[in-house]
Amino acid sequence: MALSEPQLQLCSTLADDGTLTLSLESKTPTPLADDEVWVAVQAAPINPSDLGLLLAGADLSTAKSEGEGLARKLTATVPAAALPLFAGRLGHTLPVGNEGAGEVVAAGASAEAQALLGRTVALFGGATYARYRRAKVADLLLLPEGTAAEAGASCFVNPLTALGMTETMRREGHRGIVHTAAASNLGQMLNRICLADGIPLVNVVRKGAQVELLKAQGATHVVNSTDPDFEAQLTDALAETGATVAFDATGGGELGSQLLNAMERAALRSADAYSRYGSTTYKQLYIYGGLDRSPTVLKRAFGFSWGIGGWLLPPFLERLGQEGADRLRARVVSELHSTFASHYAARITLSEALDVDTLKRYAQQATGEKFLITPHLA
Ligand SMILES: NC(=O)c1ccc[n+]([C@@H]2O[C@H](COP(=O)([O-])OP(=O)(O)OC[C@H]3O[C@@H](n4cnc5c(N)ncnc54)[C@H](OP(=O)(O)O)[C@@H]3O)[C@@H](O)[C@H]2O)c1
Repeated sequence: MALSEPQLQLCSTLADDGTLTLSLESKTPTPLADDEVWVAVQAAPINPSDLGLLLAGADLSTAKSEGEGLARKLTATVPAAALPLFAGRLGHTLPVGNEGAGEVVAAGASAEAQALLGRTVALFGGATYARYRRAKVADLLLLPEGTAAEAGASCFVNPLTALGMTETMRREGHRGIVHTAAASNLGQMLNRICLADGIPLVNVVRKGAQVELLKAQGATHVVNSTDPDFEAQLTDALAETGATVAFDATGGGELGSQLLNAMERAALRSADAYSRYGSTTYKQLYIYGGLDRSPTVLKRAFGFSWGIGGWLLPPFLERLGQEGADRLRARVVSELHSTFASHYAARITLSEALDVDTLKRYAQQATGEKFLITPHLA
């Protein structure tokens, strides 16, 4: 089978001495199994989780690129103190890109694979910053006829996580949600879901402009963590909504602890009697991102009825089962242009992703600054 352009994959390699190298690796395609297809990837978003794999916490002030076009390479240094965190990947060349969308350009012999020829599909599961991505038919999401690849590029990671938060809330018996870094692409989706489904949501952001952005999108409760009366505002919002499950994208610092403490203060407002053990209201904090790399600090004034855990999409989907996952995926497809629409600040090619100035911009993880890789554009 011949693909119309060479297969190229953006890869990240971390050497034992802490040198990180980003490069475009060329591979010879091998024959497809009956149930496989080649997808010409047309659009793939750069999400925070991609940056984790791509950059391994490298110090970007050391970044430099050499070479041009497809031969370009970018190097940067990962601080020695951080290297033990990445012991499992030292010396390995890892393909990058969690998700994306594109056109099926070659198919295995099965009827299911052949039926996808020429169709636009979304895919998830790694190695999407590539000209072509091989995939099993069962792992693809078929997009409705006429859907542009760009519209389907972010079908999985953020939409399913936002929906997963509301599913988790219901399954664990909570009435409402608190969400941090809430002006993120994911946060804006969660706000739209909660408004549509009547779920009380407290959005926590860190800038005035983010309060305005979410309020303009109909959000009821938006609290700015840099306001001097943040904790009082947060407690009022939690008392009003009854939200007792928090999803924290920052992970570091005291924010998670502040959320639990405010939930406890809100619960005590309606407590019948004093208990030295605190309220009986169960409060759950899920850390689901690592935007703040500083240590997680707990200042416990939240009694004894609480839990803290990690939350990650793939194991959540496994627990949910095939039927549940299919239900969420069907909703994403039917609301692709509304609830689950993503916006991109820029579109870049594979080689532009290895340009130092471009990298510094997309690595910021700032509100409204999500980039899209378009592997087939020159
Ligand atoms: N666990 C999972 O399975 C899973 C799945 C999907 C996504 N996620 C996580 O979801 C989060 C949002 O993803 P996204 O693609 O929606 O992000 P995004 O659109 O790139 O937005 C990132 C947001 O985080 C804010 N931010 C960055 N650093 C921060 C910090 N130190 N403290 C507070 N806010 C900070 C930014 O605000 P500023 O403009 O103020 O910088 C921006 O609003 C990420 O943490 C990602 O890893 C987790």
